[in-house]
Amino acid sequence: MCGIVGYIGSKEAYPILIKGLQRLEYRGYDSAGVAMLHQGSFNMYKCKGKVANLESLVAQNSSIGDMGIGHTRWATHGAPNDVNAHPHSSGDGNLVLIHNGIIENYATLKEALTAQGHTFTSDTDTEVLTHFIEDVYAKTGLSLFESVRLALAEVVGAYAIVLMDKRNPNQLICAKKSSPLVIGVGEHGEFFIASDATPIIEYTKNVVYLDDEEVALLDRNEGLKIVTIQNQIKVPYIQALEMKLEAIEKGGYDSFMLKEIHEQPRSIRDSIRGRLNLTLGAVRMSGVDEHEEKWTKASRILIVACGTSWHAGLVAEYLFEEFARIPVEVEYASEFRYRDPIIFPTDVVIAISQSGETADTLAAIELAKERGAFIFGVCNVVGSTISRATHSGAYTHAGPEIGVASTKAFTAQVSVLYLLALAVAEKRGTIAKDRLHRLMAELNSVPNKIEEVLQTNEQVKHIAEMYKGSRNALYLGRGYSFPVALEGALKLKEISYIHAEGYPAAEMKHGPIALIDEEMPVIVIATQGASYEKVVSNIQEVKARKGKIIAIVNTGDKTVRELADYTIEIPKTDDSLVPIVSVVPLQLLSYHIAVMRGCNVDQPRNLAKSVTVE
Ligand code: G6P
Repeated sequence: MCGIVGYIGSKEAYPILIKGLQRLEYRGYDSAGVAMLHQGSFNMYKCKGKVANLESLVAQNSSIGDMGIGHTRWATHGAPNDVNAHPHSSGDGNLVLIHNGIIENYATLKEALTAQGHTFTSDTDTEVLTHFIEDVYAKTGLSLFESVRLALAEVVGAYAIVLMDKRNPNQLICAKKSSPLVIGVGEHGEFFIASDATPIIEYTKNVVYLDDEEVALLDRNEGLKIVTIQNQIKVPYIQALEMKLEAIEKGGYDSFMLKEIHEQPRSIRDSIRGRLNLTLGAVRMSGVDEHEEKWTKASRILIVACGTSWHAGLVAEYLFEEFARIPVEVEYASEFRYRDPIIFPTDVVIAISQSGETADTLAAIELAKERGAFIFGVCNVVGSTISRATHSGAYTHAGPEIGVASTKAFTAQVSVLYLLALAVAEKRGTIAKDRLHRLMAELNSVPNKIEEVLQTNEQVKHIAEMYKGSRNALYLGRGYSFPVALEGALKLKEISYIHAEGYPAAEMKHGPIALIDEEMPVIVIATQGASYEKVVSNIQEVKARKGKIIAIVNTGDKTVRELADYTIEIPKTDDSLVPIVSVVPLQLLSYHIAVMRGCNVDQPRNLAKSVTVE
């Protein structure tokens, strides 16, 4: 959601900015813009639509300048059009600014500025902020850096901003609160700025993650200076990026989503590596070992998350209840935080987030923290805001996920939550040793099983061909497969725009059964576990109403094969591990249907990868 890039150095800024914006396209956006500073004037271009449109626009004009800023905008205040696209200028045209986030008190600021004679061309809160900084600068006579700090002290809301001043070719200024910002430190006064490390990685591995309420001055001659909004000087903490360039490129696949689906055997191995010790028969999770009492004495686990991460949380509910015998509640972060939830100091809150930046999840964490709970984060992006806001946590180590629709992050989340549930169960003494060892060995074999599942790709493609024209789809599962039904339906609607619903199979007769006719594909997870016979009965109910059945079954299954229109076979595993294996053919099915319908699978319409607004 909104992408920010900035550059100051001795190279031409535009190629760096445009490539950076392309790298950030995955975050989701609806307009784009750049501004380069050259000999005291801005070369500024912005337009609605894709970065490619911006490129064509710039191609006909001058793009010279060795410093600049670039932005992809996901509309909040004002429609996605050329005028509302960033950068925005101050009234005197000396400043240009890009912004990610929402200025909540922009109406009050706008009113005050309008009363002083400011006029605005866009509908954005960003333009108001630019004029406000201009106003503080003019009135105080302080440096621009100081003025930005003072202006931001008056701002309510979330922001990551980068600012450039026509009169000063040596400095860029940036700041953040509740929206991420990373500074890449090059050599000889060269700096890069971005919303995440992906645009920076090919230039430098040295980065500084700005903290909330910090303002940074990037000066060609004097280097990097950081102060807090409260005017405390901070020593920049330079970290080494571990990300590799290949991880953020397509590597021969048609799309990032397809690459990421196929990466799952590897990403799950990375998630469990070092944590699963089969020789010793032990699960090692440092966040459990270091806070043993919190887990062993937990009276309840609250899970907060959004989207696909919420589905991983639902799987975790079953896991913790079965293995560790702790009651679990899974909450949409956005609902949890607004309803004055009851939180006890003996609660453990698990926050799950791929990006580690989701605004609602972050706000839920802050609320639970205030009320004394112990917060454990399960994040994919190393150094992300959520990973730093929690008391402890475990990274999923899935590697960068670029496709907006989450695939490998989900299976990595479930794998880590699985290890966590086993580690806690072991400490609480709620799982028998032999069962623990069997499940550990079974988890260890999951990546190989997914490799087998990926062999069904051509068959899944054929099924996709049959159903690509559907207008609706129903996904059914019971027990551990219910969250998979929800996730399968979410994948289909996200990328193919087909209306899809996930349901617990037994609930079908309380509503969705009314929708079933010969036009309706019903995708059922019917693996041979505790509720197999019951699911077979549900399949019969669909068949009796002429619904079309696509069933995920275990290899060699005969009963469901006779009933279903199509079956996709997956290897047998323990019930508790079915979600990780069975979700893969559903990811492939959505992928192929979306491609056949001509949809952009990596950047579906209206969606953002990292949702930094509440
Ligand atoms: C967005 C993404 C989803 C993701 C959700 C939660 O909606 O498009 O793929 O599941 O946010 O994001 P998080 O980064 O917190 O897991």
